[in-house]
Amino acid sequence: MCGIIGYLGNKKALEILLDGLEKLEYRGYDSCGLVIFNSSQNYYLQKTVGSTKALREKIKSLFEGNWGIAHTRWATHGGVTDFNAHPHYDCRQEIFVVHNGIIENFKEIKQRLLEKGHKFSSETDTEVFAHLVEDYLKLEKSLEEAVKKAIKEIEGTFAFLVVSKNEPEKIIGIKKSSPLILGVGKNEFLLASDPTPISFLTKNVVYLDDYDMVILKKDGFQIFSLKENKYKKPKINSIDWEIKTEQNNIFEHYMLKEIFEEAKAFGETIKDKIQEKKVIFEELNGLKIERINKIILTGCGTAYYACLYGKYLFEDYLEKETRAEIASELRYENYSYDKKTLFICISQSGETIDTLEALKIAKEKGAITVGIINVPGSSMTRIVDYLILTKAGPELAVASTKAFISQLSILYLLAFYFAKNKNPDYLYEFLSLKNKIEEMLAKKEEIESLAKNLIDFKNFYYLGRKYEYPIALEGALKLKEIAYVHAEGYPAGEMKHGPIALIDKDFPTIVLAPQDSLFEKSISNLEEIKARKGKVVLISDSEKDFEVYSQIKIPQTKEEFYPFLITPLIHLFAYFFAKHLKREIDRPRNLAKSVTVE
Ligand code: G6P
Repeated sequence: MCGIIGYLGNKKALEILLDGLEKLEYRGYDSCGLVIFNSSQNYYLQKTVGSTKALREKIKSLFEGNWGIAHTRWATHGGVTDFNAHPHYDCRQEIFVVHNGIIENFKEIKQRLLEKGHKFSSETDTEVFAHLVEDYLKLEKSLEEAVKKAIKEIEGTFAFLVVSKNEPEKIIGIKKSSPLILGVGKNEFLLASDPTPISFLTKNVVYLDDYDMVILKKDGFQIFSLKENKYKKPKINSIDWEIKTEQNNIFEHYMLKEIFEEAKAFGETIKDKIQEKKVIFEELNGLKIERINKIILTGCGTAYYACLYGKYLFEDYLEKETRAEIASELRYENYSYDKKTLFICISQSGETIDTLEALKIAKEKGAITVGIINVPGSSMTRIVDYLILTKAGPELAVASTKAFISQLSILYLLAFYFAKNKNPDYLYEFLSLKNKIEEMLAKKEEIESLAKNLIDFKNFYYLGRKYEYPIALEGALKLKEIAYVHAEGYPAGEMKHGPIALIDKDFPTIVLAPQDSLFEKSISNLEEIKARKGKVVLISDSEKDFEVYSQIKIPQTKEEFYPFLITPLIHLFAYFFAKHLKREIDRPRNLAKSVTVE
C-alpha cells in the first residue's frame, strides 16, 4: 500500500514522476504528491487529495527540475487531506520524505520532538521521520549519515525516500519489509515500490534487501547495508515485465479485460509444464514429496481461497496432512514447522505483508518454502526456496481475477506432479479446461442480465461444498469488494447451523452445485432454501430443472476441475453487478491491490 517513486537524471522529473505515480496508483489512490528540485536549489512541492489526475490538474507550474520524489497514498495514520498527503517535510522545509509502511512508535517520537520545539504540519506517522533526520543533521555531516542514525529509532515497516534541499542531486532510499527497487539507466536512476514505473526507462534493476540504504547521486549509486555495516556490491538483474497502460478500447474496465484473459492466463501458466502425459516442474529441482510429512498453504484474500482449493486437492491426491491458513492469522500462530514441512505461499503481487512475514517465519523455522507468485522479482520471489511463477501477466484492476485461475492451475499441476498413483488421462481433461473457460466467458450476456435482474437485492449467500466452497468465498468477496454489496460465502452444509435464519424472499442465494460426489447433498440444501421462499441461482451441469429463479448451465468435467468453470461466471456476475450500480470497478473505495501494511 502506498507507492513511492524517486527520479534523478537528465530528463524532466515532473513528467517521469507523474507517469510513475499513475503506474503505482493501484497501490493506493486517496491522495498524492511530489517535490522536484532544480540545480539552483529551488523546489516545487504539490500535493492533493485524489488521484494523479487531480494532481496533474493542480500543477500549474512547468517547473524544470531533474530530481525529485513522489507518493501515492492509502491512508493509515491521519485522514485523507492535502496536509496528510506526502511528501512530508521538516520544520524548515529543507528535508522531504515519502514513505510506504507504518512507523509503529511514531507517537513517542513525535512527543519527544514536540517537546524539543519541532512544528508538525500533518497527522501522519511519516512526518516524524523528516523531523528526526532534521535533528540528526545538526550532528552529522551528510544526509545519509543522518538517515542512518534516524532509522535506528524507527519501529515498524518502511520504504523511505529522503532528499534535502541543501544536498543537491542526491536521493537516499532505505527499506525494511516494504518493497523498494532501484532502476539503473544510462545517466539516470529511479527508485520505486515496484518494477512497473521503472521498466519504461530501464530493464536493469537492483532489488534492495531489508536495511539496505541506497545513496543515489548524479554520477552513480552506492548501497550500504546497515545490517552488515558495510557497502555492498550491487547485483543488477534484468526485468521482463511491462504493463501496457494505453487506453484499452475493447473493454470498459481493466477488470473485465482481465476476466476475459482468464483462459489465456490458464494457458500461459501451464505452458511447457505438461509433456507426454507427464507434469514437469523444473523449478522444483527434483524436490521429493517423500521428504515431506505435512503441507501448509497460505495467502490473503483471493490467494487464500486458492490455498483452500489446494488443501482439498492435496488431501485427495497426496494423502498428506494439509492446512490452508489466512496469512495474517498464521503469522501469529504457533505452528510447528520443521524441515519436513512444505510451506506454500500464494500471492499475485509477491508483496502482501502478511504473506511475506508468514513466509519469513516458516523459512526461519526450517520449512521447505515454495512460492506461487505472479510478479517476477517481487519480495517473496527472492525469499522462497522454490519459485513457481504464474504467467497471468500484469493484473491492474484491484480485485484479483486472472491471477486466481493461474494459481488454481499451478496447484492442480503440483498435486498431479507429486501424486503417486495418477491417471495420465486426467491431464487431457485438464488441458480441455482452456476451451471450457472460453465457453463460460461466452455467457457474458446471460450473466449480465442476471446481475441486472438482481440489482435491487442487498444481501447474497454463495454456497458450495468442498472444491466449490473456496469459489463460494471468492464469489462473495468479489461482490463485496467491487459492488459494495453484502455477500457471504458458506459451506452449503453449514446453512442450517445459523445462516438459514436470514433466508426470505429478499435474500438470494447462489448455489454452486456441479454433479460431483456431493451434488445430492448440495441439492438438499438448495431445497431447504426454496422451502423458505429464498431465491436461488443454481450453477450446475445438471440437465434437470430445479425450478429455481435462474439456472446457469456449465459443461461436465472432473470434480476437482469445476472451480475453473465456475470462477469466470462469478467474476462476471460481480463485475456486471458493480457496473450497473455504477461503482469504481478498477479502484474500489478503501482498497488497494498490494497490501504492504498490516
Ligand atoms: C488485496 C487485493 C486482493 C488480493 C489480496 C492478496 O486485498 O485487493 O484482490 O487477493 O490483496 O494479494 P496478493 O497480491 O498477495 O495475491
